[in-house]
Amino acid sequence: MNTPAAVSAAQERARAAGFTMSSEESCGRFLGVLAGAVRPGGRILEIGTGSGAGLGWIVAGLGGRSDVEVHSVELDPAIHALAAAAEWPSWVRLHLGDVHDLYPVLGSFDLIFADAPGGKWTDLDRTIAALTPGGLLLVDDMRPERWGSADHERLTGEVATTLLTHPGLNAVELTWSTGLILCSRIG
Ligand SMILES: C[S@@+](CC[C@H](N)C(=O)[O-])C[C@H]1O[C@@H](n2cnc3c(N)ncnc32)[C@H](O)[C@@H]1O
Repeated sequence: MNTPAAVSAAQERARAAGFTMSSEESCGRFLGVLAGAVRPGGRILEIGTGSGAGLGWIVAGLGGRSDVEVHSVELDPAIHALAAAAEWPSWVRLHLGDVHDLYPVLGSFDLIFADAPGGKWTDLDRTIAALTPGGLLLVDDMRPERWGSADHERLTGEVATTLLTHPGLNAVELTWSTGLILCSRIG
């Protein structure tokens, strides 16, 4: 698949705004494949909208489907405004806020892309709890080219240990993109 127009547009918004945290194309392609496999009537959550690159891959992966609800949460009002400036299908909902506060109203999901410190470094248990039985959780940046800080390395290691040893999850590490862990909820 060529890079979808929604992804290119998100990359351009990020470039213009100096936003440097967009997910890699390789991760986005993987995410799009998972989105396309979500059950009819399913629900997808992205934690950390950024400028909308991951969201663009999710929408592209869904093709012409309109039976899936897609929710994306962003903490930073200025970053949220970047993604909100774009046109998204009617079944995409952009939320401005801290995922920590939004869990009680978001519900449960068949696919979660946890791509923010909130919901990954903190509240990972709540992210796991928001998975439907059989639901998939994807995290990236598990093996970045370099660590931002010693805390970054430590917290990432803690996320990996939690996911790979969690009794309620099947989990696998993938040496794809920036290092992915893909999990499915058991039960
Ligand atoms: C790595 S970027 C997201 C990139 C985006 N998912 C993509 O695919 O391009 C992480 C984003 O999460 C946001 N964020 C950080 N903590 C958050 C929280 N607790 N709740 C929601 N969003 C958060 C940041 O402001 C930032 O825009």
